[in-house]
Amino acid sequence: MVNVLVIGNGARESALGQAFLRSPQVDTVYVAPGNVGMSLLGLAVLPVAETDFASLIQFAQAHVALTFIGPEAPLAAGIVDAFQKAELPVFGPTRQLAQLEASKQFAKAFMKRHHLPTAAARVVTTQEAAAAAVADFGTPVVIKADGLAAGKGVTVAQTQAEALAAVSQLYVDHPHASVVIEECLVGQEASVLAMFNGIQRVIFPLAQDHKRRFEGDTGPNTGGMGAFSPAPQFSAEQLEQAHALIDQTLAGMVVDGLYGNGVLYIGVMFTADGPKILEYNLRFGDPETQVLLPQVENDFYQMVQDLLAGKADDLKLDGRTYCGVVAANPGYPQDTRHSLPVLVPNEAQRHYWYPAGIVQGTDGLRSHGGRILTVIGAGNDLKTAQSQAYQRLAELSGALAFRKDIGWHAL
Ligand code: AMP
Ligand code: GLY
Repeated sequence: MVNVLVIGNGARESALGQAFLRSPQVDTVYVAPGNVGMSLLGLAVLPVAETDFASLIQFAQAHVALTFIGPEAPLAAGIVDAFQKAELPVFGPTRQLAQLEASKQFAKAFMKRHHLPTAAARVVTTQEAAAAAVADFGTPVVIKADGLAAGKGVTVAQTQAEALAAVSQLYVDHPHASVVIEECLVGQEASVLAMFNGIQRVIFPLAQDHKRRFEGDTGPNTGGMGAFSPAPQFSAEQLEQAHALIDQTLAGMVVDGLYGNGVLYIGVMFTADGPKILEYNLRFGDPETQVLLPQVENDFYQMVQDLLAGKADDLKLDGRTYCGVVAANPGYPQDTRHSLPVLVPNEAQRHYWYPAGIVQGTDGLRSHGGRILTVIGAGNDLKTAQSQAYQRLAELSGALAFRKDIGWHAL
């Protein structure tokens, strides 16, 4: 039996931890820094910051056979390079490869070089140049801060005034910001994720996230308010197109000498002109992971080890559809300072409860931050999965806020 270390503290890492725990080869799963809710799931919470590479390496050397990196920030800061230098087995992209997510400019140049379809875009570094680009593109137009913004650095502006307001806000916050002004794409969005090593890959079923805060896809962009998978509204042809984007991207990486392994997550927009890439992420998605990993019947630990050895396993799926709903601070994404009580799940509820922003208060569990937990439901179709998720969430949400329409694009 071996131990595994997962880096991160969200509902995604709760789902990753659970997937490793289901492996008959795995004894203890440590999660650093984790959250207090994870200990209710049988995960071992290790209170070490995800950026404290030296302490994490020291721990990994003594206690684990594999380290799996969940979130983007430590990847962009070079955690994989540090682990590799210490000759420790680690799953995740190097800092250079993680640039595909961390720098929208780097990603746009990559897509252009390898003829991968994406929105027309211009990168600007002054407010004047941004205003000129907004005028050239016309509206609607998309404004993105370069660099990691947890999905919150994007404004889809319907009017010129809205676009200019977003631009000037970015330059107030960051006077030297590198900003991407981009053509607005119209269509249905899907998340396609694959675990890869070079061009070897295991592609997961399509998922659909819900980025906007409120029902009917209104309100500000968030990290994601809910997801479901497989997404039944996409055709076999669209699925094939999504797989082709994964394979063309992996081939492009190899051509560029960007060797490595990890998770490639492509945000795809299926437009009238075919599929276009909205963004690359070099990690699992949150909340997508909470509805992808429960479908997988493979030994997840073995699947990762096989990839590290250069072998892609065939995915064995349970054939069910999963729907996950995120319960968030009512003020999310703007103001998440207020802390609320979090209900403690009973034994049965722990099988579908994925804790994220949870801390121990003097009077019980309390919320901390924006997205607090995910609850999932499953069934033979999306409708059944959705009703189960909402029934379960009704007993666990307390005063937390959530979208009531996760799955609506497919129903
Ligand atoms: P990103 O962080 O680039 O994935 O953007 C977050 C969200 O903003 C996406 O999931 C889309 O919903 C939306 N978005 C980003 N770029 C565009 C675009 N060019 N056209 C339309 N919507 C977009
Ligand atoms: N669900 C969006 C993301 O993980 O970036």
